[in-house]
Amino acid sequence: MPNLFDSFSLKGSTLRNRIAVGPMCQYMAQDGVPNDWHSTHYTSLARGGAGLVTIEATAVSPEGRITPNCLGLWNDTQAEAFAPIVAAMHKAGTLPGIQIAHAGRKASANVPWEGDNHIAADDPRSWQPIAPSAIAFGAELNRVPQAMTLDDIARVQADFVRATERARDLGFGSLMLHFAHGYLAQSFWSAHSNQRTDAYGGSVANRGRFLLETLRAVRAVWPEDRLLCARFGVIEFDGQDEETLSNSLDLVKQMKAEGLDFIDVSIGFSTPDATIPWGPAFMAPYAHRTRQETGLPVSTSWYINEARQADALIRNDILDVVTMGRPFLANPHWPHEAARILHAKNAGSVLPPSYAYWLSRYQ
Ligand SMILES: Cc1cc2nc3c(=O)[nH]c(=O)nc-3n(C[C@H](O)[C@H](O)[C@H](O)COP(=O)(O)O)c2cc1C
Repeated sequence: MPNLFDSFSLKGSTLRNRIAVGPMCQYMAQDGVPNDWHSTHYTSLARGGAGLVTIEATAVSPEGRITPNCLGLWNDTQAEAFAPIVAAMHKAGTLPGIQIAHAGRKASANVPWEGDNHIAADDPRSWQPIAPSAIAFGAELNRVPQAMTLDDIARVQADFVRATERARDLGFGSLMLHFAHGYLAQSFWSAHSNQRTDAYGGSVANRGRFLLETLRAVRAVWPEDRLLCARFGVIEFDGQDEETLSNSLDLVKQMKAEGLDFIDVSIGFSTPDATIPWGPAFMAPYAHRTRQETGLPVSTSWYINEARQADALIRNDILDVVTMGRPFLANPHWPHEAARILHAKNAGSVLPPSYAYWLSRYQ
């Protein structure tokens, strides 16, 4: 069995180890354009030694941003600003990934440290969110979205394709579709947010249609030898869990048939009335089941912080790759720390040489 520091090969890509940094919104952009914050942040994470670093949820259109400060990839100015970041990530030895997203009814929100709620509708910084149905999420996100027309659906799918083409041309090695966390795609999937009566709502097959069509359109322009991944909320923890999970895994099988290479298993976050059993690696069993039932390579995140815990998830063949978020905010050199704790002989170069020389000499 491989361990945390063994490489992972899939299609034309090889990750130097089984550690991935998950997408994490920085809320530091203006007009969706990456700046020196993103450059420093993503270069540091790439130099930290993870096999894959996925850039935060990046909107496919202005209305698809969560907040006014989210990244975007709908114009050339944004693409040009991404180019040196992607080059620096490649140079640091990681596989650079990007998550493309549309926030749906959770769009037009304040950044988390300024409320995490919808911006007031009469504030000039706000915009009208769109969603499958005119149903607000609730709690602090109570703005009622506009129900999407069929033209809106086609336009958003075209926006996903255009963002994919820009990501392809920028040289990203992995594209992650944001099909999770109650944003637009997940909100088509969830009956909490989708009460449409046309071909995109009602039956389970209809609720999956937006996701499958988007995936198919993206796959058509994303190179065959580069990783196409989806982060998908397979469960809501809303009391309907076995039914949701079973329907979700059927949908994942269809995604696989459409050309999905890899799945990052996550939570739906489609209702504020969920009771989520937070705890160490609590999503790992659901990811494992996803692999067992669909045959796709899997990863998951959520409270996988410790080196031995992460290593055990790989050695025990629960996950193919371990994804981490907050541990990398606390320590971008988490892989170095993990290699030290695990006495890993196969960790290779998880530090740039100008750090490695000193740390291996004096530790
Ligand atoms: C600051 C922050 C921003 C996040 N932004 C995103 C995002 O853009 N897209 C996404 O799918 N998940 C996002 N997440 C979720 C993380 O990718 C990850 O799944 C989650 O933090 C659980 O992993 P952890 O326990 O290792 O932090 C974010 C999490 C944090 C802490």
